[in-house]
Amino acid sequence: MNTERLICDRALAVDASGIRRIFNLAAKLDDPINLSIGQPDFAVPASIKQGAIDAINQDKNGYTLTRGIAPLLDKINTHLKFDLGWDVQGNDAIDAFVTSGTSGGLTLAFLALMGPGDEAIIPDPYFAMYPYMATIAGGTAVRCDTYPDFRMTAERIEPLITDRTKFVLYNSPGNPSGVVGTVEECKDLLELCRSKGVLLISDEIYDEFTFKGGMTDFAKGDGKTPRCPSPARLAGAEDDVLLIRGFGKTYGITGWRAGYAAGPEPVINAMTRLHQYTYVCTPSMAQWGALSAFDVDMSEHVDDFQGRRDMVVDRLSKHTEVSVPEGAFYVFVKVPEHLGQTSNQFVDRCLERELMVIPGDVFSDRDTHFRVSYSAPRAKIEQGLDILCELMQS
Ligand SMILES: Cc1ncc(COP(=O)(O)O)c(C=O)c1O
Repeated sequence: MNTERLICDRALAVDASGIRRIFNLAAKLDDPINLSIGQPDFAVPASIKQGAIDAINQDKNGYTLTRGIAPLLDKINTHLKFDLGWDVQGNDAIDAFVTSGTSGGLTLAFLALMGPGDEAIIPDPYFAMYPYMATIAGGTAVRCDTYPDFRMTAERIEPLITDRTKFVLYNSPGNPSGVVGTVEECKDLLELCRSKGVLLISDEIYDEFTFKGGMTDFAKGDGKTPRCPSPARLAGAEDDVLLIRGFGKTYGITGWRAGYAAGPEPVINAMTRLHQYTYVCTPSMAQWGALSAFDVDMSEHVDDFQGRRDMVVDRLSKHTEVSVPEGAFYVFVKVPEHLGQTSNQFVDRCLERELMVIPGDVFSDRDTHFRVSYSAPRAKIEQGLDILCELMQS
């Protein structure tokens, strides 16, 4: 049977060839300098590993409730109260549940909110999945051009809102740029969304990876614990913001597929209904493992990433434009204009030197920048920087 002809337009519209090309080329290399990695390089905290191991050994391996295990939901609700001032247990108008990773939360949000003809505004550059999620949901991702500083401001978004816009998708710290939005930017954005009746979705997968010096906001609970600025922390935000976060990046458990979503009850309700007939539940051992996550202090790792950020920015900014990242573990670097090369051409030259970085068109309609991940050993980062600096000069 020719099964090729059975594949529908939805699947044909999803093209992962850009990133696959890099991985295929790199697969031929013995020991590449891999600065393409989208996950942390530290070991998973022992208590989180043990929580998952214990759950498996104690035969807690069956389906969980669709919304997640009760003790994890309790922890999430306590964290939301401390961090954002959201009272999920005491406010019937909002709700939260455990998702299969941040992607799981995002996918359900797109499926719950977007149908044919609907639009969502996403940043450009964007996390590679965003436009495809819109396609899968049958709608359109409208790009908000944020070059050259990668700030998704209300001013840039406003002209893109139409009567078909369902939501604005905000991502700070951002992938691929690491740029962190300010409290003021969050305020303006939320005000704009409210005035237009558009939901604001905040993808905060890197919320714990924000660096000292750039931090300008604090947890609601004590008013002094530094936190990444978030539109979800503004007064009354729980009525108008869908918050999506993950455990994967923060604790190095990307393969476990665990995250959470919180926001207006009708939206969470629609998402959980879809969750029930798609993911069914988040992997049980991942939920038991994540139980201790909020008690683990990851600041040592975040400080280490900040040191690596400094290393990368110091070297690269001598050769080209770099927006200084204040979070995550990426930097989005412009191919110097004097080279006259697209980012794909530049990345090919990097691959010839066994260096892996990701071309900008994987994250953007433009092909002018490339993403460097500094989630790699310092010696490898140094080697990579030597090559990048050399290639940027000639
Ligand atoms: C901005 C952003 N959102 C969501 C995701 C998906 O994360 P998860 O592995 O939790 O599904 C990623 C992963 O790289 C990301 O960078």
